[in-house]
Amino acid sequence: ATKKLLLLAGDGIGPEAMAEVKKLIAAMNEKGAGFAIDEGLVGGCAYDAHGQAISEEDMTKALAADAVLFGAVGGPKWDSVPYEVRPEAGLLRLRKDMELFANLRPAICYPALAASSSLKQEVVEGLDILIVRELTGGVYFGEPKQIIDLGNGQKRGIDTQVYDTFEIERISGVAFELARTRKNHVTSMEKRNVMKSGVLWNEVVTATHKAKYADVKLDHMLADAGGMQLVRWPKQFDVIVTDNLFGDMLSDVAAMLTGSLGMLPSASLGAPDAKTGKRKALYEPVHGSAPDIAGKGIANPIAMIASFAMCLRYSFSMVAEADRLEAAIAAVLDDGLRTKDIMSEGKTEVGTTAMGDAIIAK
Ligand code: NAI
Ligand code: MG
Repeated sequence: ATKKLLLLAGDGIGPEAMAEVKKLIAAMNEKGAGFAIDEGLVGGCAYDAHGQAISEEDMTKALAADAVLFGAVGGPKWDSVPYEVRPEAGLLRLRKDMELFANLRPAICYPALAASSSLKQEVVEGLDILIVRELTGGVYFGEPKQIIDLGNGQKRGIDTQVYDTFEIERISGVAFELARTRKNHVTSMEKRNVMKSGVLWNEVVTATHKAKYADVKLDHMLADAGGMQLVRWPKQFDVIVTDNLFGDMLSDVAAMLTGSLGMLPSASLGAPDAKTGKRKALYEPVHGSAPDIAGKGIANPIAMIASFAMCLRYSFSMVAEADRLEAAIAAVLDDGLRTKDIMSEGKTEVGTTAMGDAIIAK
């Protein structure tokens, strides 16, 4: 069966990074990988083309694809377009309509980069953790959400943290399943000492573990202490599962353990289809459209390429190929090739296409 990919390269360096993945897919197809590629517009370029951050036609394609590869959206050109059609609206629409509730953010420190890390080498060398962030619930979406004028010169801003049992069950299920393919260890983070949603989170994760995943090692940690531990000794973690807000913050902290934004991939997964068991999925680099370097041919394509490795692993169960692609990235770094963002003394600076070519050659 063909593997249907929709490529949404977006704006800024999005298309430059995506071009390297397209070359990689073409090379894999020559060896019979069988990917069928379609492309669409998202973000500012989609707004320019048809006044929407993503067209209905491209949304339909996204919902029908086995996986979506997403570049990046936005840039100063669209800073003053109406809120509903701003570039980010395209990504939010994709997340919502594809019901992508699980955001996977790995933090890996490639051996070749450990020595030039701004952190202590022993802290980051060999680091390989995966943060699983709940993406469609919690305080970012809970109602009521408003600013009330109290009439006495005061206003009140309200956000509401809401989690239902099923939401916690499904996100912790993803974390336990992923842990089984890794070091079999999950750390759940919440603030049960001050939040009712944290009490429920803890209860449901514990019950889900007991019912279906008792073979996985489970720890609980208060999210603030977790943040501290993440900086102090991150290698104690394998998979961290947490809510939308804590996950947003903790994954950004973890990201900085590993160096440049240009290195960080992510995946967002939906529920398994009742018939096929396949999850809807979108893969994207953590970085944005980097308008400051767009068009210069110097963007680091590794985050985008590593996002495609996650796609191979999670959407197509091509585990050996994903391992080889990640090993190729590590090997190219071992050879001393660096894009400008990760350049250090004595290494060889290369542009976007040369980095992509080197990884493909490996
Ligand atoms: P950014 O991630 O685009 O850039 C931050 C800094 O990191 C810049 O100095 C940039 O040059 C550098 N950088 C990022 N990716 C790089 C790469 N692959 N190689 C080398 N250097 C890289 O974040 P920023 O500047 O806050 O936002 C720029 C635009 O991107 C804005 O319009 C923002 O809304 C949008 N954005 C989009 C996201 C998405 O599409 N998911 C996520 C974050 C921001
Ligand atoms: Mg964030």
